[in-house]
Amino acid sequence: MNIVVLAGGLSTERDVSFKSGDMVCKALRSLGHRVLLLDVFLGYHDTEEDISDIFEHTEEASVEVSDIPDTAPDIAAVKASRADQSDCFFGPNVIAICRKADVVFMALHGENGENGKVQAAFDLFGIRYTGNGYLSSAIAMDKGISKEFFKSYGVPCPQGFSLSVEEADAPRQPLAYPCVVKPACGGSSIGVSIVHNETEYKKALADAFVWEDQVVIEDYIQGREFSVGVIEGKALPVIEIAPIQGFYDYKNKYAAGSAVETCPADLPADITAQMQRYAEMVVEALGLETYSRMDFLLNEKDQIFCLEANTLPGMTPTSLLPQEAAVIGVDFPALCQQIIDISLK
Ligand code: DAL
Ligand code: MG
Repeated sequence: MNIVVLAGGLSTERDVSFKSGDMVCKALRSLGHRVLLLDVFLGYHDTEEDISDIFEHTEEASVEVSDIPDTAPDIAAVKASRADQSDCFFGPNVIAICRKADVVFMALHGENGENGKVQAAFDLFGIRYTGNGYLSSAIAMDKGISKEFFKSYGVPCPQGFSLSVEEADAPRQPLAYPCVVKPACGGSSIGVSIVHNETEYKKALADAFVWEDQVVIEDYIQGREFSVGVIEGKALPVIEIAPIQGFYDYKNKYAAGSAVETCPADLPADITAQMQRYAEMVVEALGLETYSRMDFLLNEKDQIFCLEANTLPGMTPTSLLPQEAAVIGVDFPALCQQIIDISLK
């Protein structure tokens, strides 16, 4: 197949996305596909004439991928690097190239990529892509809105509420301290704070509003962290993530060796089954028909809380879904192929 792996963009997870894209690209090439790794915002810089045989020159067309830095990318610098300075999210030739592909593998994470907008645009252009459709992606992206879906489908989640930047001067107080403050549509824990008092709360709000105009404030759940991938409605084995220090923040997610990950997680069978059931219920609630990954906490009383649904879960070397798939005998290239196959059904 001729496949475009779409990565980058302008989200805070731009660098993470390139890492996912690079892995997916290599895996699909190892299966014999002709693959182009494309930066959705900066695009492919060659001239229009080169597009006709672009899939014959896949190696040269690839973007550079380096390690994931410790901090979020400088989005202003990325924007400034595009010569045409236009407000269009799609870089030069991106739509034209994607239309030539048999399928676009979505390796995007975060805003404008995971939030359904690119999916909606692709639907209008008749471009086939991997992963979930625009509506479920949009609902899952907003942690305040998806919390309401979790509640109405009986999936337990931390109590909390959304707050907009207009309300920030006289903010509603958290139900209790400690609590968690996070951008409503963020990813990879960027802008997330755990706060213990009012001073920290105000600082955390200011920090989260740097990224977005909407934040979610919820109860802090002390406990163990888990994640469950779901492919076509069926849960994968549960994975436990135990950061060596602090919580599973940006650094602990992507610096190799920063967290101990155990799959299948060491849990009683009934808790494992319940967590997998909740993950599948989220999939039903949000309509995540292809693949996704739900994140959970388990407190000392063995109560399970669903934190969020990830509609384009990470595919980096330290990512969780690929580890879960490996446990049931699906290696990384096979997982990428499966994602394509189920998405094109
Ligand atoms: N947001 C990152 C990519 C994940 O969920 O894996
Ligand atoms: Mg996420």
